[in-house]
Amino acid sequence: MPTSSSPNSQLIGQPRSRWELLTPALVLDLDALEGNIAAMAAWAKAGQHALRPHGKSHKSPDIARLQAAAGAVGLCCASLREAQVMAEHGIAGLLITTPLAPHKASLVADMAKSGADISVVADHVDLVSAYGEAAEEAGVVLPIFVDLDVGLGRTGTPSAQVAVELAGLITAHPSLHYGGVQGYMGHLQHVDDHGQRRKDLNQPSGDLQGIVDALIKANLPPDVVSGGGTGTHRLDAEYGTLGEFQVGSYLFMDVQYLTVQQSESDERPYQPALFVQTSVVNINHANYAVTDAGLKSFATDGPAPLITQGAPAGAKYRYMGDEHGAIDFKKSYDSMALGDKVECLVPHCDPNVNLYNDYHVVRGDVLVDIWPVAARGNS
Ligand SMILES: Cc1ncc(COP(=O)(O)O)c(C=O)c1O
Repeated sequence: MPTSSSPNSQLIGQPRSRWELLTPALVLDLDALEGNIAAMAAWAKAGQHALRPHGKSHKSPDIARLQAAAGAVGLCCASLREAQVMAEHGIAGLLITTPLAPHKASLVADMAKSGADISVVADHVDLVSAYGEAAEEAGVVLPIFVDLDVGLGRTGTPSAQVAVELAGLITAHPSLHYGGVQGYMGHLQHVDDHGQRRKDLNQPSGDLQGIVDALIKANLPPDVVSGGGTGTHRLDAEYGTLGEFQVGSYLFMDVQYLTVQQSESDERPYQPALFVQTSVVNINHANYAVTDAGLKSFATDGPAPLITQGAPAGAKYRYMGDEHGAIDFKKSYDSMALGDKVECLVPHCDPNVNLYNDYHVVRGDVLVDIWPVAARGNS
């Protein structure tokens, strides 16, 4: 188990300890987290889908273990660092979903040599060669997925023809194993309207099924077609091309995901679970209080943090600076006291997690555990 040096450790198990934390603190609602993991696992089981959730969202071996216990076949990682930490903690079925710079190929091969259960992706012939050489030198067989650009325009092969070429090269190399393909439609995860997302998924620009068909025609059928995210997984399943789902944010359901409809009737199978707790440090203004969580405490690439507990009804959070935020009151007679605690739902979970050393794991009002964000940094 990773250990924590959090100054809040002595509060574990104390009544109402959730509200005694030194702030700013990252707070994880364990009931909601467990509910989200169970809901996703039940969905996957019902449709006979494999889950390889994305560890970039949590960077925590503790959470990876919960996902594995619920039936996940492995864990995706976005960086070499994440994969190294997860491997050190015994997490199996790792897939690094980002094509790495070729100079890292030997580090991946070394991981495989020391027993890590690891696969990588490649989208260029030079990267396939780098992995081939590194694997040969290390004396291992390295599984590689061909990364397909299915409309995101970030990484991935530019055409079915290149995908076929790479799959052929991997298959022919004695130190490489053709694991399958990856197609991640990141550009569609946050299309709020369910009907619009359904239409967008059906656009030919990405054409995941077309590339898979070309591979089958070339006698290179992928064993695994991996991809999908929290926004598209239910629709992806309807199309039937993906066999393995890389969902990440469903664990936490940040502010960005609150507006993304999971179905036409806007069911909510996953609940918000990750919060930043902050304390009031100044009450010398008529219409707002100042707190100790600012730009360094929240991921600032998305919407504003959403107040969930502790402030007068209707109050809104506003960034004030690196270390400070304002709680803007709705009513002129609203007020707060020094030291009052406020919790905000994180705006964008992945980069928000990366700002903290620890998850403060709570059930109701009690701090029940502290889990290190073991793979934070070195992204
Ligand atoms: C390759 C890949 N797969 C899966 C995910 C998970 O997506 P989400 O957090 O929307 O579930 C991400 C997130 O950025 C990703 O980059």
